[in-house]
Amino acid sequence: MAYNLLKGKRGIIFGALNEDSIAWKVAQRAFEEGATFTLTNTSVAMRMGDTAKLAETCNTIAIEADATNVEDIENLFKQSIEHLGGNIDFVLHSIGMSPNVRKGRHYSDLDYGYLQKTLDISAVSFHKVLQVARKLDAINRWGSVVALSYVAAQRTFYGYNDMADAKALLESIARSFGYIYGRERNVRINTVSQSPTLTTAGSGVKGMDKLMDFSERMAPLGNATGDECADYCISLFSDLTKKVTMQNLFHDGGFSSMGMSMRALQQYEKGLGCDCDCGSDDSDTEHMYD
Ligand SMILES: NC(=O)c1ccc[n+]([C@@H]2O[C@H](COP(=O)([O-])OP(=O)(O)OC[C@H]3O[C@@H](n4cnc5c(N)ncnc54)[C@H](O)[C@@H]3O)[C@@H](O)[C@H]2O)c1
Repeated sequence: MAYNLLKGKRGIIFGALNEDSIAWKVAQRAFEEGATFTLTNTSVAMRMGDTAKLAETCNTIAIEADATNVEDIENLFKQSIEHLGGNIDFVLHSIGMSPNVRKGRHYSDLDYGYLQKTLDISAVSFHKVLQVARKLDAINRWGSVVALSYVAAQRTFYGYNDMADAKALLESIARSFGYIYGRERNVRINTVSQSPTLTTAGSGVKGMDKLMDFSERMAPLGNATGDECADYCISLFSDLTKKVTMQNLFHDGGFSSMGMSMRALQQYEKGLGCDCDCGSDDSDTEHMYD
């Protein structure tokens, strides 16, 4: 259902590679809510992925930019402002990549050249986007910038590797720049910490299927889907959240506040060969707490 929440707003959306991408779903929802925006991705992603196809369905253009390259970002903002006919109201940073994860390097045996790339692509690029936007004065007052994060920034998750360090830096940049941009131009900057989601980047994480199953069992509301993440991002771009800034906002069905759930415990007990009545369904579980 559309509510015209972004009517008249202009945006830039980074990171829509294919229809699984979280950014893809955000673009579709932003379009439904009346926004105009440009899409952007690297030249390789534009060749291999479907960004141009999405641009067509959203009646817009896709502009090539490597988010680690300041000149590319400058060009992106200038071209977007020209194409959209005015300054920008919202930006989605939906970018992540770790060569250490891709090459299967263990966290205790990182390649430091790769680590630099992980940090540059997945976190410092966010600073670059914000710094360019501020220098060009490209974002309107009460604009909103959102980047996507993961709970591994706060807690250790086996297999998430150096992306955990990148996400911690990303969230810190949101706070540090959020202060400056908020004070000067009322621009709000937040990160959304999303549930594990099956996407191209997501499937690179070691044991992703088991991680998704675990968090599904732990979260009282279950994992948040990519479509639900898009809904949340739209609310953050809208005028309904004007005083929310410098926050890392968990969008994970409650996972991050859990220690252990009955559903996860039952599964664990099965693994230990427990002979108690642990095949009970959710309604049994509820009765235990009645
Ligand atoms: N999938 C998950 O489980 C999950 C969970 C929490 C957070 N996130 C975060 O969501 C964001 C989007 O990832 P996704 O899951 O939609 O996967 P995805 O693979 O669809 O998107 C990642 C995007 O990053 C782009 N990218 C990589 N290097 C780039 C560069 N140098 N410049 C510009 N763009 C570049 C890719 O081309 C791709 O479009 C990432 O920040 C990711 O860490 C994902």
